[in-house]
Amino acid sequence: MTAHSSICTHQGCTVGQSGKQLACPCHGSVFDAKSGAVVNGPANAPLQTFKVAEVQGDIYIVS
Ligand code: FES
Repeated sequence: MTAHSSICTHQGCTVGQSGKQLACPCHGSVFDAKSGAVVNGPANAPLQTFKVAEVQGDIYIVS
């Protein structure tokens, strides 16, 4: 399992869910919610990705 940072890689605004994508309200970048990859710029780098693990119903970032 993975999780993504909500910090846009363009200029640091907070992205939010938009269907199956993550959208930045500042300049319109769109990221794939599953991979964090850029779908539309101006961002040109994917969202930071973290590995996560579930332990007894709780979710932890492991890296
Ligand atoms: S800060 Fe997100 S698109 Fe510019």
